Amino acid sequence: MTEPIISVKELFHQYGDFTAVDGISFEVSEGEIFSFLGPNGAGKSTAINVLITLLPLQQGSATVAGFDVVKDPEQVRESIGIVFQDVTLDRDMTCREILEFHGNLYKMPNAERKDRIEELLALVQLENKQDTRTKNLSGGMKRRLEIARGLMTRPKVLFLDEPTIGLDPQTRLRMWEYIKAVNREGTTIFLTTHYMDEADHLSDRISIIDKGQIIATGTPSELKNTLGEDLIYLETSDGDGTRKILSGMEMVKHITQKPTGIVAMLNGDGTKILPMIIEALSREGIRVSTVNLKKPSMDDVFVHYTGRELRDEGAEKPSMAVTRAGRR
Ligand SMILES: Nc1ncnc2c1ncn2[C@@H]1O[C@H](COP(=O)(O)OP(=O)(O)OP(=O)(O)O)[C@@H](O)[C@H]1O
Ligand SMILES: [Mg+2]
Repeated sequence: MTEPIISVKELFHQYGDFTAVDGISFEVSEGEIFSFLGPNGAGKSTAINVLITLLPLQQGSATVAGFDVVKDPEQVRESIGIVFQDVTLDRDMTCREILEFHGNLYKMPNAERKDRIEELLALVQLENKQDTRTKNLSGGMKRRLEIARGLMTRPKVLFLDEPTIGLDPQTRLRMWEYIKAVNREGTTIFLTTHYMDEADHLSDRISIIDKGQIIATGTPSELKNTLGEDLIYLETSDGDGTRKILSGMEMVKHITQKPTGIVAMLNGDGTKILPMIIEALSREGIRVSTVNLKKPSMDDVFVHYTGRELRDEGAEKPSMAVTRAGRR
């Protein structure tokens, strides 16, 4: 197995005597899109800010791109790109100037800098806004420009702290496409979000984080499948026969009769069990006319692990302290 590109062991972080990150450990593989999914105040930005060397590491260990955040903070910074939770663009600079400035800051050679700017303006589709001052961009355009800036130096890992916060649904969908395009270029992506659909849609793997602790990690489907409560709805040529067959199957937990069909709650992954059910029915000469599979959502997963809805508490509480620390 190749070395993980991010490796975190027993990371703690306290503000005074308040524990914001409470002993988290996880690894991210090269090329992955990895997400921290958690509610406001879960400790997502704090953890990210330790990994990007903006906050000191208090306890535990962390390496990014093979470099230790304590021993080699310079090399860590050279290996990463960052998009902070809050907009951090100079309002009076144009898109192109922002990218030029960033390239100069990192001492990129002229020719390489110019080429990269063209590439990135195309990637985030801001070519025709390149001479617009950032104060005249829409929220989504600002976010895209920040991503482009984060990618100027061809980082191995791009950190995105709440990449689509405050964007409208359509713009969020477009952002997801940009993030995937960046990932296809070979960049490992570490993102935080409190949107379950975002984590679900984008991530190869997710860690659900709550009150400073990781409470579950897995692929979106692994996380949802652990609930084992996929539901199928069936309409068949023989209702009684169908019920009899289903009730004899181990992987069927519960059957409910509906006016037009039957709903079965399953013990496992419906995508695997459904074909078996259809085969068992067809062996008995029962034809299936309608079938519908409902998977548990990430919302169901969050409730399962935390006993709460994601939006239960502190939904509007801004975490200004960390985002302010995140400014440059
Ligand atoms: N500089 C600080 N001083 C004191 N407490 C802080 C500071 N920064 C963050 N906190 C607290 O630490 C906890 C974790 O905050 P953090 O910003 O890491 O959460 P988050 O998961 O990023 O939340 P959000 O989804 O709102 O961005 C919160 O309770 C927050 O109030
Ligand atoms: Mg945050």
